[in-house]
This record gives sequence, structure tokens and C-alpha cells, in this order.
Amino acid sequence: MRSHYCGELSSANIGEQVEICGWVHRRRDHGGVIFLDIRDRSGILQVVFDPDTVESFATADSVRNEFVLLAKGKVRPRPEGSVNADMPTGEIEVLGLKLEILNTSLTPPFQLDEHSEAGEDIRLRYRYLDLRRPEMQGRMRMRASISSNVRQYLESKGYWEIETPTLSRATPEGARDYLVPSRTHPGQFFALPQSPQVYKQLLMMSGMDRYYQIARCYRDEDLRADRQPEFTQIDIEASFVSQQDIMDLTQDMLVGLFQSILDVELGEFPVLSWSDAMRDYGSDRPDLRNPLKLVDIADLMADVEFKVFKGPANDPKGRVVALRAPGGVELSRKDIDGYTEFVGRYGAKGLAYIKVNDLSAGIEGLQSPILKFLPEAVAIEVLARVGAQSGDIVFFGADQVGVVNDSMGALRNELGAVLGLIESGYRPCWVVDWPMFAQNKEGGLGAEHHPFTQPNCSPEALLDDPLAARALAYDVVINGYELGGGSLRIHDQAMQAAVFEALNMGQEAQSKFGFLLDALQYGCPPHGGIALGLDRIVMIMTNTTSIREVIAFPKTQSASCLMMSAPNSVDEQQLRELHIRLRGAGVANEDA
Ligand code: AMO
Ligand code: AMP
Repeated sequence: MRSHYCGELSSANIGEQVEICGWVHRRRDHGGVIFLDIRDRSGILQVVFDPDTVESFATADSVRNEFVLLAKGKVRPRPEGSVNADMPTGEIEVLGLKLEILNTSLTPPFQLDEHSEAGEDIRLRYRYLDLRRPEMQGRMRMRASISSNVRQYLESKGYWEIETPTLSRATPEGARDYLVPSRTHPGQFFALPQSPQVYKQLLMMSGMDRYYQIARCYRDEDLRADRQPEFTQIDIEASFVSQQDIMDLTQDMLVGLFQSILDVELGEFPVLSWSDAMRDYGSDRPDLRNPLKLVDIADLMADVEFKVFKGPANDPKGRVVALRAPGGVELSRKDIDGYTEFVGRYGAKGLAYIKVNDLSAGIEGLQSPILKFLPEAVAIEVLARVGAQSGDIVFFGADQVGVVNDSMGALRNELGAVLGLIESGYRPCWVVDWPMFAQNKEGGLGAEHHPFTQPNCSPEALLDDPLAARALAYDVVINGYELGGGSLRIHDQAMQAAVFEALNMGQEAQSKFGFLLDALQYGCPPHGGIALGLDRIVMIMTNTTSIREVIAFPKTQSASCLMMSAPNSVDEQQLRELHIRLRGAGVANEDA
């Protein structure tokens, strides 16, 4: 139908007859001449109709935004003074000679260039219109380039793309499962995979040696800007590899990706131990663009009068930290109250601070409600330890380790942003040496990564002191986002059984993972891998702040699709076939 895409045309085509197809982006009537900006996925082109071409002029007069057109005409330079430097095709225009309306359009519910005023709900309800916006098309283009680049890279390294089922069993990635009822097995359910973890390990046991998949994963968990109920992983597994091999492969792939797509040099990724990351940043996914660090001061607070500090300073499960914010002396009482409320959301009971008005004036130069509880020497030593300067404010957090890390880690991010301290660009890092387990809210143990991760000790030592065990696990982090995580896996049946036992899985392990425990006994190679969140990679590379902006048809914050109204109720007949009777409020077939 067409000879060129709109955005392809330039001065090089002047004099050519062209045929273009696209949507009416804008129509302007300039004293007898009609200008149509016609848009396709490649860009926008100005087509001019004058009254000499009577029929097409009348057609051009009748079109409205989002009509679909086929236009024929001749490329010519724009007259002097009307060149548009902001537009890639701004030096030229097409003199329209013929115009055909391929389809009309209702008035769109929002102007495409005024999408932000429309609000996200409208954009999601009419996603097919929202996706017409050049910005969204650019993101989809980049997403396709990223997947293609990753595929080529992994293929070049000998990785085979192998698909794994999505009608499966529960997989232990820590979220709730999405379930699918079985018609042929009354009362039984498939689970959609939270990741292909178990399958990819079975593929290693099958001798596939190197596997990858751009895999769809499903997790029913609390949603955030960087979490969707269905999302995509670049999933990788290899046999006979070390932790370093997988880290090198991942880094090489990401460096190449950023280089070829963005022309950005990521360089060498620094490697932080999990405990150093928690100590310095209060987070296992630190944003290294932010120069602020938490500084431990429990040793200085062990004997002070101030109970708020003294208690946690003497508690093995407590932590006391200081966080220096340069230039923070300007913060008002109201700002500080705001931050106190902010850390309160993470469980902190307060937010002590010292303002350093004049460092050279000693205690006289400081301003703080807690100075009366601290010996002068201690206050001065704290300031020296954090490197405080005149004009700074130093905040303090004292509580159980988890509360201090969560609240002061979040405050670090917040202050970095508010004070304009975040460097531009990308700062990747690795976080390694994870604990194998963490205590969960119920007092039991949960796997920090997943229960197939190789601990760095013997099965006996693991059971003896599970909380002391470290895991051969690694996360890759960029700018405060966890891009991916992986580990070396257990390939020894006794070790796998010990991990299940530490997790108190007992009989459940046999019924859920008996097949895996069996498979481990038939010559399982040592193996390991990683999975990277594709949506998060695209989000970071397109400089957006939500993965909804880089997924063609995302779900809302409450896990629904506004366009298709999914999930939805189904008719009685379908439920009967699935052997399902609903219960609870507002359910149609309760008595069926
Ligand atoms: P993990 O659970 O860390 O590891 O997931 C790997 C990566 O997937 C992305 N991700 C998500 N992205 C969007 N929405 C979500 N709800 C979501 N959940 C996770 C993140 C994360 O780093 N099987 C292991 C990997 C392995 O051990 O090889 C796994 O799934 O970017
Ligand atoms: P209080 O004696 O409870 O009024 O607290 C004195 C100062 O310490 C106030 O600035 C509180 O915000 C702060 N504070 C209270 N609890 C904590 C805590 N757990 N960590 C840090 N600061 C706190």
C-alpha cells in the first residue's frame, strides 16, 4: 500500500512521488491550505493540501484526529521560515495529490499529546490509543531491541532457548500462586510458574548444558511500580560453572546491551557483600549513585544516658546509626517532622538529629534536642566519625537491626533525592554472600533466595546453625533496583533434603519436590544460573519509573486489566465443568 514510512522521508527524497499510510495526528486549516500531520510508528510527516486538488482538499477538510489515511503526493522542501528543527522530517513536506480515508475514528477519549492529564486509568482502558503515542512506540521498539540483543548474545555463547510449561505446579519463589482449575482432574489445580526455576534445573539434569528463555512468570503479590503480577524474566542456567562464570556472563551481557542500545559504558561492576551493603546502605539493593552512607555508632552509645540509643547499642539484635546529610542545616522543623513521619512508616519510633551550625564552635555550634542526653565528647566524636561539616544535619536511627536498616535506608534514598545528591547515569553492582535463610514473621525460617540455592557449608553445619549459613547467591543491582538474582544450585540430594528440613518442610518436601529429590540421584551435574527482570531492564534503559510504562498491556495496581475487564466472572456452565462451586459475598452461583 505504501512506498515509505512517514518518518523515513528527508531532503534526500525531494521531488519523489510517495505514498504513505497512517493516522491523523493533527489537522490545521491555514487560510485555505490544509496541513495534515500524518503519523505512523516511524514518525510524523506534514502533508499539505491546497484547493487546486479539489477532491482531495475536500477529503482533507473532512478528516479528524485518528482517521486512517492513504496519501499520495510529492516531497518538496518546506518554504523558508517554516522549517521545523524539532521534527526529524521538519525540512520537508509532502504536497498531497490524492487522499483516501481508509477508516474513520470516533473522537479519542484523550488527546494523544495530552495523555498525562488523562490519567493512567483512561490510558489503560484505551491502551491501543495510548500505545499509538510516539513515546510508547519508542519504548516498545527498545524493548524488542533489548530482547533481540539478549537472544543474540546468549545464542553466541552456546545457550539454547528452551520453552518450559506454564501449566505447572507451585514453585517456591515466595509469592502466592495463580491457580488454574483442571477440568479433567476434578478438584485439582495447576499453578502458573512464579519462575521456571525447577524446570531449568531439570534441564541441566537432562544434559542441556546451557539454557535460556525469555520466560513469562506469574506472582500474586503486593504490586509496586516495579512489580507486576505477570512479568518477563531473562532466565539462564548452565552446567559445570562457577559463581564467577555466571556473574561474568551476566555482566558481559549487560555491558554489551547498554553499549549497543544506549551507547553507555557500564564498566566493571563493583562486588559488595550482603553484609557490607546492609551496613553502608541499609539495603540489599543499594543505589550507588547516592553518596550518603549509614555509619555505625553503637560503640559510642553503649554507656550514654539516652535510653533510646543505649538500649539498641547494647542489644545484639539492635543497631544505632548516624546519617549525615550535607547542607541539611537548612531543613525546617516542619521538614524534620516530615522525615520523622517518613521513617515511622518503616517502624522507626523517632528520628533524632543534630544540626551542625558551626563545627568550630564545639558543642555551642550544635543544635539538637538530644544533646542534653549525650556527653559532649561523644557528640563530637560522632560528628568526626561521619565527617560532618558546618551546614550539615546528622540524623540518627536506633532500634532492632531490621527497623534501622529499613527506615534509615529509605531515609538515605529520600534525602539523596531531595538534596539533589543523586549522580546521573547508571551505577551497577553485585551483591554476594547472602545469608541462606532469614527468620520470618512467624519465627520460622525462610530461604533468602530459594531453597535450591547451594549453601557454603555441609548439610550437618547447615542444620546445626542455619542462620549462620551463607548462600552461593548473587544479585545484580542498578540504581537501587534489583535487576536480577541467581545462585549456584544444590546438586546433592542429602544437601537438598537438609535445606528442606531446615525449612521445616518435612513431608511437604516429599510431596511437593519428591521428583526433584529423585532426579538429584540420577547424575545431576553441578549447575547454576540467574534470572533478570526484562521489564525492569527496559524501565531503567528507557528512564521510566514504572514497569507499566514498558509493558504493552500491563495490569493495574490491583492486578486487573481495565481494557478487557479481566479478571471477570464466568458462566455457571463453565464453573460446573471445572467442578467449582463459588462461595462468599456477591457470588452468583452460590446455591447452584
Ligand atoms: P527472583 O525471584 O529474584 O529469582 O526473580 C528474578 C528477577 O525477576 C524480576 N522480578 C519481577 N519483575 C517484575 N514484577 C515482579 N513481580 C517480579 N518479581 C521478580 C526481578 C528479579 O530480580 N528463579 C530465580 C532466579 C534464579 O535463581 O535463577 C528467581 O526467579 O528483576
Ligand atoms: P524522646 O526522648 O522520645 O522525646 O526522643 C528524643 C529524640 O529522639 C526525638 O528527636 C526523637 O525523634 C528521637 N528518637 C526517639 N526514638 C528514636 C529512635 N528509635 N531512633 C532515633 N531517634 C529516636
